[in-house]
Amino acid sequence: MQSIKSFSLIELPTIQDGIDGTISIVESRKHIPFDVKRVYYVYNLANQIAVRGKHAHKELEQVLFCISGSFKLHLDDGENQIDFLVYKPNVGVYLGIDLWHTMTDFSSNCIFFVLASDYYHESDYIRNYNEFINYVTCKNFKSSGLTF
Ligand code: TYD
Repeated sequence: MQSIKSFSLIELPTIQDGIDGTISIVESRKHIPFDVKRVYYVYNLANQIAVRGKHAHKELEQVLFCISGSFKLHLDDGENQIDFLVYKPNVGVYLGIDLWHTMTDFSSNCIFFVLASDYYHESDYIRNYNEFINYVTCKNFKSSGLTF
């Protein structure tokens, strides 16, 4: 998979209970790199043209689980982009800062579940793609130490 900043896959410990089902376990700071302050989940995604995301976060970290069905995830760190199908309930997608993410192509039974490092703050969102590109380009330039 192409190298994308602020992104990784997290495989959860899973207990197979045979005919009695499967348990996947998530513990803060053990399986995910932050304390969970907020949980939200998205469902009723049967509409073929549903689109979610289309933003990046300045400080918020999240881990996303598709606990039913599947969807396509598009990630863009300002330099590289990837698209892949999210469908494993025991594999979380870590979405760190400065990562433009868009979800589409939801299966009719899709439910996704998100663990977040902070409460909801609209000021933490970058919802305009050009603004996102300017923001990350500027940050990368500053961290490179180059000056005019
Ligand atoms: P958004 O984060 O853009 O959803 P997604 O990433 O799934 O597309 O949020 C959509 C709307 O819901 C937006 O108006 C903000 C509101 N919202 C809250 O009020 N609290 C929350 O915790 C979340 C995730 C969203």
